Amino acid sequence: MAITVNKQAKTITLHTKHTSYQMKIGNLDYLLHLYYGPSIPDADMSWQIMQYDRGFSGNPYESRGERTFSLDAQPQEFSTQQQGDFRAASIQVVNSDGSYSFHGKAESYQILKGKYKLDTLPTVFARDTDIVDSLEVTLVDQASQVKVLLLYGVFEEADIITRAVKVVNGGDKPIHLSKIMSLCLDFLNGADFDLVSLPGRYGQERQVERQAMTHHIHNIGSVRGSSSHQQNPFVILCGRETTEDYGRCYGFSLMYSGNFLAEAELDQYDQLRLGMGINPKQFFYQLKPGETFEGPEVVMAFSMEGFTGLSHLYHDFYRTNLCRSKFVSQVERPVLINSWEAAFMDFDDVKLVKIAEAAKDMGVDLLVMDDGWFGKRDDDNSGLGDWVVNENKIKCGLHKLVEQINDLGMKFGIWFEPEMVSEDSDLYRAHPDWAMEIPGRHAVRSRNQIALDLSRKDVQDYLIKSVNAILDDANIYYVKWDINRSLTDIWSNGLPAQKQGEVYHRYILGLYRVMDEIILTHPDILFEGCSGGGGRFDPAMLHYYPQYWVSDNNNPIDRLKLHYGTSFVYPTCTMGAHISDSGRFVPLETKAVVAMCGTFGYELDATHLTKEEQKICREQSRLFRKYYHITFYGDFYRLTNPFAPGNMTAWQHVTKDKRESLVSVVVTNLTCNGPQEYVKVKGLEPFAMYSVNGSQETRSGAGLMNAGIPINREVPEYSAFQFHLVRKD
Ligand code: GLA
Repeated sequence: MAITVNKQAKTITLHTKHTSYQMKIGNLDYLLHLYYGPSIPDADMSWQIMQYDRGFSGNPYESRGERTFSLDAQPQEFSTQQQGDFRAASIQVVNSDGSYSFHGKAESYQILKGKYKLDTLPTVFARDTDIVDSLEVTLVDQASQVKVLLLYGVFEEADIITRAVKVVNGGDKPIHLSKIMSLCLDFLNGADFDLVSLPGRYGQERQVERQAMTHHIHNIGSVRGSSSHQQNPFVILCGRETTEDYGRCYGFSLMYSGNFLAEAELDQYDQLRLGMGINPKQFFYQLKPGETFEGPEVVMAFSMEGFTGLSHLYHDFYRTNLCRSKFVSQVERPVLINSWEAAFMDFDDVKLVKIAEAAKDMGVDLLVMDDGWFGKRDDDNSGLGDWVVNENKIKCGLHKLVEQINDLGMKFGIWFEPEMVSEDSDLYRAHPDWAMEIPGRHAVRSRNQIALDLSRKDVQDYLIKSVNAILDDANIYYVKWDINRSLTDIWSNGLPAQKQGEVYHRYILGLYRVMDEIILTHPDILFEGCSGGGGRFDPAMLHYYPQYWVSDNNNPIDRLKLHYGTSFVYPTCTMGAHISDSGRFVPLETKAVVAMCGTFGYELDATHLTKEEQKICREQSRLFRKYYHITFYGDFYRLTNPFAPGNMTAWQHVTKDKRESLVSVVVTNLTCNGPQEYVKVKGLEPFAMYSVNGSQETRSGAGLMNAGIPINREVPEYSAFQFHLVRKD
């Protein structure tokens, strides 16, 4: 049973294979959080909570002078508002009378077979073979009749628990929400916790940062209108002792692509609260009587096996329960070549065909025509929004171009940036009111473009129609969906003044609708997400796209850190990675080894390569296909930390049955006359024998893991190695 109820103790316990999560309808019907961690029986854990009279921490009225019950010191499933809990709030309701309060008490609960759904937001799903139960607990504020529905999805085998929230206005007058967190998780003792996050910037996304929890609120979030390059909607809370391989760690991954907030607060009593949800910045959402608001889903996991254990839980789950695209498991991803760094916007049909012809010899399957093919678009100052082929460039027309590529035995892909408009475009001239600009002010330009107001249905409909028209017209196999600026000037001409606080969120809802109507209606097209590189790399996006461009930074040495950080939560098969001209001193073979950590492809002018270089590429494309079953479906191990001092970076993929493994090593620094270095691999069968790169001689799994593979140090700088291990018995 994934969810058990102890009626006497009024506890509800969620059980996955190795974890448990317990809550209790406690004193005065407040919903208390009792436990999340390694499996426990469903016996009441409320003996954990010690009650004291805490000065300056008030008591609810109904406790009638009983001073030891203060919500400021109780672990809660969802913190109330104006009930004496001064920690980070889960909700801020502005009631119809202008008061700010929500006194939510548990009214009822129900256990449902299968996974709950949200109507407006993407969620993970249960496959037919998954055992999943859901719990819904309803909290009610008696005075306002505002209800909060806490939703829990329990994926037993996967060791995953999801949470989401709904707010229902059960009263008879409109209310406003100014904050709503999808998750509130309280730890009674959090003083020895560290917080790990993935901050970054354009070109350097998802670097890893670890900080000790101290007595304040640590905010990790984005207010850029997208999940952003600067932070990622994923945090880890781990013990101070936790390492890559050992120790407790909790992961929290938010399925949302807009403004988000993770707030981790270590309070006066060393209790730790983590809240996660939509960022309250400029959020003011009206709910009329009977209306419901849905908060995005948080995917939670716990492991005792350090960061590796936690990553494996997310990798396995996100590989199977996040995206329904056939390219996740049924159809192999192609090796692609993208025109961007080859030609930028300076191309025509003839040039593209020449690149494709040269790429064909490199074992490439797919040509992607990047930015510059539509409207009037010779630089990034014009054309966005006009999704019509520019026949001055594609003189033969899209059909003919695709045909020529297909005749080479290759597939064709195309780039879009649907969410944006250039001032110099037919779309803007026809519909200036569709752009996000505050009346009477000039909008901030970023890459000289303006965001379209996706909260508007007419804008959504235009995008659905114009993008689908291209997709349905030619034989398109792949789409790269880009967004190249942060949102500012938040305003919708489609909403009245008092509803402008809804625009940030409505933009995201509109975006998901557009994606539903373009992506889900084209199951045979492979979609790749992109945002000026990896600026919106989040699980909600990966619900739609099986892969996402990691970064515009193609330098293979920088990529070692980018892939390392991204892999903390996202499986390597989601990571768009290409070989380009970037990294002049790095050999082509090394670039290929790095790109093979992800989806593999090229981003260069293939016609400029020598015959010898083309041959190397052909071999690398062949190896990518040879190792596909290991790198796309195997377990991933970070063998070294590229942020720590060291002379090499190593990582490894191992098939689930441990019969095969690919170990990749890049030498990043050569010390003169330095010590011999060894790479200790992981995840093998200790007593099995493995061949290395097809040699007759075999080595034991235990030897490879405990003594390590010696790395030849008499090699040129930036050399790379791949060790293909095959079990022999
Ligand atoms: C972004 C992307 C690039 C490329 C350009 C085109 O920067 O990350 O890969 O598509 O846009 O304008």
